This record gives sequence, C-alpha cells and structure tokens, in this order.
Amino acid sequence: MERTLSIIKPDAVKKNIIGKIIDRFESNGLRIAAMKKILLDRNTAGEFYAIHKERPFYNDLVNFMTSGPVVVMVLEGDNAVKKNRELMGDTDPKKAQAGTIRADFAENIDANAVHGSDSLENAKNEIAFFFTQTEIR
Ligand code: CMP
Repeated sequence: MERTLSIIKPDAVKKNIIGKIIDRFESNGLRIAAMKKILLDRNTAGEFYAIHKERPFYNDLVNFMTSGPVVVMVLEGDNAVKKNRELMGDTDPKKAQAGTIRADFAENIDANAVHGSDSLENAKNEIAFFFTQTEIR
C-alpha cells in the first residue's frame, strides 16, 4: 500500500470539476486518506515547487498555483504513485493519452488540472509538506 500527494489545481477548481477528478481516483482503486481546499500563498507555493526554482517556468508556475484555491489530497492504494501518474497523463495535455485527466480536463502545460508526486520519496515529502499524521486516515 502506497500513499501519494495529489493537487487539483486552480484551473480545475474554477471549472467546478473537483468531483469529476476525484471520481477518476476512486473509480480506479485509489482512496482519499486526507483532503483540504486551500488558497496557497506565494511562499508556500514557491517552497513546494522549490525543485523547479531555476526553471524558466517557475514564476509562472507560482503565479498560477496562487491564482485560486486548490484541493490537496493524500491518495492511498496499491502502486498509488504510478497509478496516479497514469490517471493524470503527460504533464503537457497535448501529449496526454486519451482518457487521462489532463487529456480530458486540462488546457495547457501550465493550467494542467492536477499535480501528482513523481516518486515514492517525493510523495512522502510532499504529503508531510501539507498534512500532519493525525490528518491522514
Ligand atoms: P506539476 O506536475 O505540478 O509540476 C511542475 C509544473 O510546472 C508542471 O506540473 C507544469 O504545470 C508546470 N510546467 C510548465 N512548463 C513546464 C515544463 N516545460 N516542464 C515541466 N513542467 C512545466
């Protein structure tokens, strides 16, 4: 059993499709172990994406992730990290396989509907970034 962090990004929250995205997870063997809707401030978003600090898209990424509320979740299930990434599809919605969350709901590589941890180690760090142990059930 693994846990991974998922974020429903501001574009998807604005489109009122939180439920549609959560349905993809629940219908595919992932369980929501923790969840909250929050507005990220620039410091928090910047720290969360610190790994991308030197990338040319960093500023736009922080601007976008603070442009409206997000839903942060811990997903739990067998191979949760890989399964979540398969359900999300490629980072760039234009390259994402048909039937994936990003192919169906995302506009472009910035407004790409969801974030998911890319490894088990990053999942542990990202979960601890947003949730305390007692919030995960
Ligand atoms: P996410 O999985 O949240 O991780 C970092 C985000 O940066 C990524 O999704 C994209 O939304 C955004 N991004 C913008 N441009 C790029 C790029 N060229 N490569 C990777 N991520 C990018």
